[in-house]
Amino acid sequence: MRCDRSRARHDRRWVRFPQMSTSSPARDRLRAVVTHAGSSLVALTVLAAGAFVVPQGVPADQPVVRTASTAPAPSGPAAPSVTIDGVDYPDPLRTDDGEPVDGPASWEGTRRDELLAHFRQHVYGRSLPVPTRQTYAVRSTDVGGVERKNVRITVTGPEGSGSFDLTLFLPGGGRTPRGTFLMIDHRGAVGDDPGSSSGYAPVSKINDAGYALAAFDTDDIAPDDENRYRSAMIDLFHPAGEKLPEDAGRTISAWAWGASRAMDYLQTDPDIDPAAVAVIGHSRGGKASLWAGAQDPRFAAVVSNDSGSTGAGLARRRENGAETVARINDSFPHWFPQTYKSYNDRESSLPVDQHELLALMAPRRVVVGSATDDANADPEGEFRSYVAAARVYELYGLGDTGLASTRWRPAPDTGFRGPAMSYHLRSGGHGLTASDWDIYLDGDLFSR
Ligand code: GCU
Repeated sequence: MRCDRSRARHDRRWVRFPQMSTSSPARDRLRAVVTHAGSSLVALTVLAAGAFVVPQGVPADQPVVRTASTAPAPSGPAAPSVTIDGVDYPDPLRTDDGEPVDGPASWEGTRRDELLAHFRQHVYGRSLPVPTRQTYAVRSTDVGGVERKNVRITVTGPEGSGSFDLTLFLPGGGRTPRGTFLMIDHRGAVGDDPGSSSGYAPVSKINDAGYALAAFDTDDIAPDDENRYRSAMIDLFHPAGEKLPEDAGRTISAWAWGASRAMDYLQTDPDIDPAAVAVIGHSRGGKASLWAGAQDPRFAAVVSNDSGSTGAGLARRRENGAETVARINDSFPHWFPQTYKSYNDRESSLPVDQHELLALMAPRRVVVGSATDDANADPEGEFRSYVAAARVYELYGLGDTGLASTRWRPAPDTGFRGPAMSYHLRSGGHGLTASDWDIYLDGDLFSR
């Protein structure tokens, strides 16, 4: 079974919506307070009833972390919070029982798994299982000095077998790639010709920089269509006529699963260093790349380009025209599980927010790319999420965001890079462009 690449892609539109109401008394009251000050956690003075003051000596543009002083709720993850731009957010550094997470041991031993479980249950849904069998058929071709490999990956589940294609371009001249970008390609834009370039997937540019590019078409994993999304891989694991469980992942989860299956192959390819693979996606592909990176620690770097709502962007912000949970679920009912829909217009009830998704990459490199005019993806929400995730990187001594200031808004068109975190804000609108790639390809994503 294989999907038909020629079908219409009518749903690959970018939906724009009118501006949302932005008033938030809490936000107005607490404007000054944000998140994390780069590599140094600022000591806080916590007053009774959860009030707090900015510590003396903190420069005006340095955001401050506030950890709520309120006792954690007896159960459930919602109580301990951090404040981001005046609004309470779940604290990645408190376990569900309210215990502080003070180092890699408690992060990796307890908190990381708790957060993954929450994202799985409430946001992205349960993943497809590891296939019972997986095989690869590889065809290598020299295309004008570039080695192209067409890899057909066949997976077997309880309901049958299906295949998807991974296309791999290696830098020419027998050079060993310095790393590999694995692209979750929701546009079906990476063809067979390494010379045909676009800003979105500039094969030659990537190869010239010494990297390999591997890409798969998300439609071969789960078609981006409300009525057909189960038809490729999902129904290999669920009986076709049966309703999916409420908490089963839909397309975004399936695409992330596809990235892991592609990684299974890359680990077997002698031309690829599996310790230097970055998963990258744009927009809906960026949501999937983050979820893939969160779950699969084999990805040494995780790149989110303009991923916005349910990607890098904070869900609790409902302003500046940013896409909300309700809007994304209404527009794309086949992207997330039913469980996520219960948070429509109830973002503050979510046990997690997206800064905790970014934090799940720690200590591997997380890369967030945004665009100044991409209101639907809420670049400010992506930035604040990135900054807030640094608190978890700090457990590893890697909390330096690379930013000149953690205050919105950073200088556009500048790559900011810390030892494990990278950020840029491109001028312009929604898109993965040559300028974004210039920044992703500048320097080594796989070194500190
Ligand atoms: C829509 C959707 C976004 C998504 C984007 C895309 O605009 O609202 O959530 O990121 O499509 O994938 O291009």
